[in-house]
Amino acid sequence: MVADSSLLKVEDIYAGYGKLEILHGVSLEVRPGEIVSVIGPNGAGKSTAFKTIVGLVRPASGRIIFDEADVTEIQPHRMVSRGLAYVPQGRIVFPQMTVLENLEMGAYIENRRDRIGKALEQVSGLFPILAERRQQKSGTLSGGEQQMLAIARALMTSPKLILLDEPSLGLSPKFVTQVFEKLLEMKQEGYTMLVVEQNAAKALSVADRAYVLELGRNRFQGSGEKLLNDPEVKRLYLGG
Ligand SMILES: Nc1ncnc2c1ncn2[C@@H]1O[C@H](COP(=O)(O)OP(=O)(O)O)[C@@H](O)[C@H]1O
Ligand SMILES: [Mg+2]
Repeated sequence: MVADSSLLKVEDIYAGYGKLEILHGVSLEVRPGEIVSVIGPNGAGKSTAFKTIVGLVRPASGRIIFDEADVTEIQPHRMVSRGLAYVPQGRIVFPQMTVLENLEMGAYIENRRDRIGKALEQVSGLFPILAERRQQKSGTLSGGEQQMLAIARALMTSPKLILLDEPSLGLSPKFVTQVFEKLLEMKQEGYTMLVVEQNAAKALSVADRAYVLELGRNRFQGSGEKLLNDPEVKRLYLGG
């Protein structure tokens, strides 16, 4: 079920690093239950947009509304406790820690043991491979499994919205397919996701809606299907 009301609304954001402005008026929206994809060339500002939503980069102007609250000026850790999870680019796990320890780290904002147990159970259902390997050191997992762990860890806070930055980057084709299948499975389970991806065709094919960013601005937007079939989007971003 996709509701009409928006869970996240990014309105005309200008942001960057010091005096260097990277985003020149970016807007996007995510509704409950959706997968929304953000595609665009390298350097377009996709990761910067995510960092701004999370609160790691302060916007110079514009507004960010999450779950009906204005969170434009909020601190990143408070964003997490409000229900936003962020999986940064580069499948970062703690290699010396076991799978289970990594997952428990994901629940650091939760101090109730029973809730952590419940989250673990739910995440294990979605990622049976990780449940099997609970005691294995994370550094010994394959790249694809480490990415699954990074995603699973983000789910340990039972987030309302998950931001995934390039979840398929650097993975072998088999794992790329698995990551996108997992996103669809997560959607079935009721999770809402905003995904940045360089794999534009796959990102559009799983998306309810999508945005194309270019040079820090919105360039195209629409349903995943519409953008997949848009001749200009095809020519510019889908290699045909
Ligand atoms: N920490 C930073 N300091 C200065 N410039 C940065 C920083 N991070 C990214 N940039 C610059 O911001 C621009 C957009 O980067 P980014 O948001 O990572 O793009 P994308 O994720 O779309 O590839 C690039 O020109 C990049 O060099
Ligand atoms: Mg990026």
